[in-house]
Amino acid sequence: MDPKLAAAKAALKYVRSGYVIGVGSGSTALMFLSELAENIEGGGLTDVKLIATSTETEYEIVKLGLGELLRYPWQVDHVDVAIDGADEVDKDKNLVKGGGGALTREKIIDYWASEFIVIVDESKLVDKIPSKHPIPVEVVPYAWPLVKARLERDYGGSAELRYSSGKRGPVITDNGNYIIDYRPGSGIEPREGERVIKCIPGVVEVGLFNGLKVSRVIVGKQDGSVNEF
Ligand code: A5P
Repeated sequence: MDPKLAAAKAALKYVRSGYVIGVGSGSTALMFLSELAENIEGGGLTDVKLIATSTETEYEIVKLGLGELLRYPWQVDHVDVAIDGADEVDKDKNLVKGGGGALTREKIIDYWASEFIVIVDESKLVDKIPSKHPIPVEVVPYAWPLVKARLERDYGGSAELRYSSGKRGPVITDNGNYIIDYRPGSGIEPREGERVIKCIPGVVEVGLFNGLKVSRVIVGKQDGSVNEF
């Protein structure tokens, strides 16, 4: 079994009828959404409401025929559980997110949820964050050269504007902003890194997520089993 699917299936046990569910972005979160849709159609969960963390997820909710369950943050006063993927996870549950560019809406919903469940395959587990994946930073377009300069001056390494292969010009997020992918020169402590990068004027959000906000990490394996911590 696809290990991402194993994690997605295991996440269903954290969902109850009547819940407001934050649905993350990326391939693993969309697998969870398919599993959820199947469960609802099969008469399992009832009366749930879905909050999307990206246009991609919103589109998928409608495509799966769950459009009537879709809600926006102004339509609900709480989120019971958020289920989302990640690009990297360390042993303290700190995360790098934003490989798909949806980090801002993801953090809004994931941090607001009463429970935040992360679903990944084993390849996402790292000793230290950031490791292989750069730190995505969403920036106001006007400010991107200054944010890049400040990151490289203050923390070394390289900060590159994200381009997509399919179009000319930089990637534009759901919020109309750009993404800088930042690889620090030396180590950066993830929780401190989240705080200081977020404080740079022009930064909208940073793809470092504090492990203290994460309730549970579900790690899917090739044999279909999962490990949780
Ligand atoms: C989206 O912006 C990201 O935060 C995703 O959660 C992350 O990239 C994981 O994606 P996959 O589930 O596709 O690996």
